[in-house]
Amino acid sequence: MNHWTRKEFLKTSLAGGAALAGTRLYGQAAPAAGSANGDLRVAVVGLRSQGRGHMMDHATKLKGSRLVAICDVDSEVLGRRKDDCEKAGVKPATFTDYRKLLESKDIDAVVLASPNHQHSLQTIWALQAGKDVYVEKPLSHNVWEGRQAVEAARKHSKNIVFAGTQNRSSEDIYDAIDFVKSGQIGRILWARGLCYKTRDSIGQTQGAQKVPDSINYDLWTGPADLTPPRRNSKSNGTVHYDWHWFWNCGGGDITNQGIHQMDVARWFLGEPGLPSTVMSFGGRFGYRDDAETPNTLVSVFGYAKAPLIFEVRGLPMKAGMRAMDKFLGTDVGVVVQCEKGYVTIGSNGGALVYGDDKKVLQKFAKNTLGQHRAAFVTAAQTRKVVRSTIEECHYSSALCHLGNVSYLLGAEKSNAELAEAIKGDKNTQDSYNRMLEHLKANNVDTAGTKTVVGPQLVLDGKTEQFTGPNAAVAAAANKNPLLKRAGRGAFAIPVFKA
Ligand SMILES: NC(=O)c1ccc[n+]([C@@H]2O[C@H](COP(=O)([O-])OP(=O)(O)OC[C@H]3O[C@@H](n4cnc5c(N)ncnc54)[C@H](O)[C@@H]3O)[C@@H](O)[C@H]2O)c1
Repeated sequence: MNHWTRKEFLKTSLAGGAALAGTRLYGQAAPAAGSANGDLRVAVVGLRSQGRGHMMDHATKLKGSRLVAICDVDSEVLGRRKDDCEKAGVKPATFTDYRKLLESKDIDAVVLASPNHQHSLQTIWALQAGKDVYVEKPLSHNVWEGRQAVEAARKHSKNIVFAGTQNRSSEDIYDAIDFVKSGQIGRILWARGLCYKTRDSIGQTQGAQKVPDSINYDLWTGPADLTPPRRNSKSNGTVHYDWHWFWNCGGGDITNQGIHQMDVARWFLGEPGLPSTVMSFGGRFGYRDDAETPNTLVSVFGYAKAPLIFEVRGLPMKAGMRAMDKFLGTDVGVVVQCEKGYVTIGSNGGALVYGDDKKVLQKFAKNTLGQHRAAFVTAAQTRKVVRSTIEECHYSSALCHLGNVSYLLGAEKSNAELAEAIKGDKNTQDSYNRMLEHLKANNVDTAGTKTVVGPQLVLDGKTEQFTGPNAAVAAAANKNPLLKRAGRGAFAIPVFKA
């Protein structure tokens, strides 16, 4: 049984002969059939939080769509949502097993709001069953399964896949990108994605925790490793939501909230694929709890046009406060630095352009982010995804996984060693110096506390594999389950590209 503790990462990697000391490996378009009145018949899958919003929108708000089915592996959640629907005057069919739902001929499209580790497999199965798909972000739990989903979408192109990266519906971002392309503030020097979002301790348990009787845990686990949960927070219990902070199912906040900002940052750069290098450093600072993913992370992606740097902070501005730091006025957002000014994009998708004097030159505030779900219905009706494509979501999701792979392969290093590792790289040094100040403000003993520093990994964008002069490092990175995990038993990921 693999419990994914750091000690066991080490034991596993050493037993497997991993070449790196301190390696952090973990465990291993047919038109919608349409109903009589031509509405898109939609099923929503995974209903606890995000799925509830989708469910109610399709039940009551979105024109041209009709909620016909709901599915959750937790019978308690399913029962609650059935009641919500009935109160709204809608009576969808209910399912616990998604595979049964896909057998129904009365469903045209699925909206997937299950946890991240289900997204690629559920997308592929839906396409194989001839359904259209709205898949929540991120597209994948690992790079390889995301690629399989992209190839499945190519093969089953009669159906559409629409990605939940909703910034793609922000007119303000298109306008801001056009502004930057006009050259008025010069070329892009770097893009920084920011996820400064309070994340409290999830508490500490002693060993494996009980799965509530209402949850079919085999179905909940799907393609991930079937291990008992080791968490039990007040708000989410032993299974739900906190999976974000465990490698088996999540990827921390870079993959959770950060995917949105990653997507915007890469889009600004106009980079159509993966970077050539990636390097990360960080840690889980300020408290001890069950979670595995870092609450503080800097990932640096080497792109030809300009570097993309991503910063995650889960601790507040200062110990005891709730407020978060801001960087050039932004906490959850993107900053694009150009030669003669910069652009900020907030979490609502609005954009501000500043000149060198830090005065606002231009404001884009049409606020169209909320149209994303309606855009899915339009895409299904017109049989064309114009903006929120599976390919774009694949690359942005993959960036989050790649950043985490470098972190997972890292070793704990002193401040001096970290400073040496990033010597000569001003942008990364800036992120590091600000990270240190932030940790100090949270009473973290930055001199005594070591930071996990990952290796600089080299990527082959064509094969989506690690490569480069250090063969041992590349091999270890290629073995990491965030690069590739094939799935489990009946939940093996169908292979579309070896
Ligand atoms: N676009 C956004 O801004 C946004 C915001 C929040 C969440 N999300 C995404 O939505 C997804 C769900 O997030 P959440 O916060 O609701 O998570 P959650 O853990 O609270 O809820 C997930 C639900 O899915 C159910 N589920 C798990 N496996 C299932 C399966 N195989 N079939 C059917 N149901 C299954 C669970 O029982 C649970 O009820 C995540 O991928 C998250 O990244 C997107």
